[in-house]
Amino acid sequence: MILVTGAAGFIGSNFVLDWLAINDEPVINLDKLTYAGNLDNLSSLKDDSRHIFVQGDIGDRALVDKLLTNHKPRAVINFAAESHVDRSIHGPEDFIQTNMLGTFHLLESVRGYWSNLADAEKSQFRFLHVSTDEVYGSLSPSDPAFTETKRYEPNSPYSASKAASDHLVRAYHHTYGLPVLTTNCSNNYGPYHFPEKLIPLMIVNALAGKPLPVYGDGMQIRDWLFVKDHCSAIRRVLEAGTLGEVYNVGGWNEMPNIEIVKIVCGLLDEMRPRADGKPYIEQMTFVTDRPGHDRRYAIDATKIERELGWRPAETFETGIRKTVAWYLENEEWVKTVQSGAYRNWLETNYSGRS
Ligand code: NAD
Ligand code: DAU
Repeated sequence: MILVTGAAGFIGSNFVLDWLAINDEPVINLDKLTYAGNLDNLSSLKDDSRHIFVQGDIGDRALVDKLLTNHKPRAVINFAAESHVDRSIHGPEDFIQTNMLGTFHLLESVRGYWSNLADAEKSQFRFLHVSTDEVYGSLSPSDPAFTETKRYEPNSPYSASKAASDHLVRAYHHTYGLPVLTTNCSNNYGPYHFPEKLIPLMIVNALAGKPLPVYGDGMQIRDWLFVKDHCSAIRRVLEAGTLGEVYNVGGWNEMPNIEIVKIVCGLLDEMRPRADGKPYIEQMTFVTDRPGHDRRYAIDATKIERELGWRPAETFETGIRKTVAWYLENEEWVKTVQSGAYRNWLETNYSGRS
């Protein structure tokens, strides 16, 4: 049994779907179901007893203590977070609450549980914290890619709150001996990505005939990784990572935002041409830049490859084609997300499941 937090969100739901597709070890999914939590993502597990969903907050000590005592997981994987940089600029408080305080309370509950385990279980236990490359700050064009020893220089309330959580996780290892692992990953894309983030927003806006807003000059660079590859990296780190270590995860795929928009538009031109025959790129529009916008992120994923033998399976070319195809095949999912109807899922489908 493993406890996965935030597994109704984008990466967490992909992680649980993949996990249960390749092994039978049950999962407790603890998710608060914020606007980003969507049980529609896990509808294929509706009648699957290996998936136990519990609606709740990682900061709710009584609830987390109870879950740990009752289910005795051998690992906790912490995806739960407020994840959107723009939202953190407009309202940082939820980010401090969940990413910092929530992670602190979760660590305290886990520490209590872990310290009372019998020796054999204690040495097998793992707490894997899922974090981001944004904690390292912004690179100039000539800087080397982020390695695990790069100084933390977070620039947004989101990245600062994630940096704080990373530091707490590290401290719980050094101070209490908690068996932790941390992963810092670059930008994910793929199925179930909430359409507030660049790639899904461009796909759904393009199809709806809406503008495709590019911040500033569109020359900001990100490293992009297909979400299933991030999930396989996490499984690998959980299985073989060295306790207390940090692993950078990335796709070796740096690209300016404007290039991403062009690629998405090109795929849509091919797979779902506009009714008027014009190219989707005509919908692109430059808008005011994000305040404090980081110019470049780049991940050096040498350590995870060298020490754990992990490499991404998808190139950007194959991953983005699968992603655009997924959105074209799952227009109902998009409609439900956009209408807010997914928020009724719990009442209609999951009552009494926890
Ligand atoms: P997401 O916003 O899609 O999902 C977050 C999930 O956490 C949601 O289901 C939400 O309901 C849940 N949640 C939020 N607050 C909670 C709380 N207090 N208690 C319990 N559940 C709560 O995010 P995502 O993109 O899937 O990211 C997951 C994790 O991966 C985050 O920690 C994020 O920082 C990290 N990460 C994301 C990316 C990316 O590109 N998306 C890259 C690197 C790291
Ligand atoms: O690097 C990892 C991070 O990637 C994760 O930790 C975050 O949780 C995740 O949201 C993501 O952060 P970004 O800010 O990089 O992702 P976003 O999709 O919001 O933006 C990607 C880039 O595209 C960024 O430079 C801002 C730009 N952008 C974004 C949107 C939504 C636009 O130009 N237009 C837009 O409409």
